[in-house]
Amino acid sequence: MDTKTLIQAAIKALPGSYVPYSHFHVAAALLCKDQTVYTGINIENAAYSPTICAERSAFVRAVNDGKREFEAIVICGGKEGVITDYCPPCGVCRQVMREFCDPDAFQVILAKSVEEYKTFTLNQLLPLGFGPENLS
Ligand code: THU
Repeated sequence: MDTKTLIQAAIKALPGSYVPYSHFHVAAALLCKDQTVYTGINIENAAYSPTICAERSAFVRAVNDGKREFEAIVICGGKEGVITDYCPPCGVCRQVMREFCDPDAFQVILAKSVEEYKTFTLNQLLPLGFGPENLS
């Protein structure tokens, strides 16, 4: 699947964010190796800490469906759902990606629009991450 199509999927999901506290909408589109796409949105909570980020929302949906291999994730977001800047993934989400993804191959794509985006490997965003192989 091409990057622009994946970005379109994330942008389309953005209005679905449940963000009554921060008003900061985030959406992600996660591309599996079998080319299926799972979107995720951030879901906030009155107790604040149970809030789940968009990226983890997408992983939770995909892993529930039995997916274990992933190629890329697009992330976009902004206050009141208006994208004005890149939205980098938080540290917890980077660590969740590390569980399932090859750090040198998995692409993290930060998008402002279908035309304007930046691509990183997970390794660039989470060098020397702790992964499943560290427990073996
Ligand atoms: N958020 C995400 O969804 N993903 C990130 O990686 C960064 C932060 C959400 C959590 C919260 O709902 C809002 O953005 C403000 O922190």
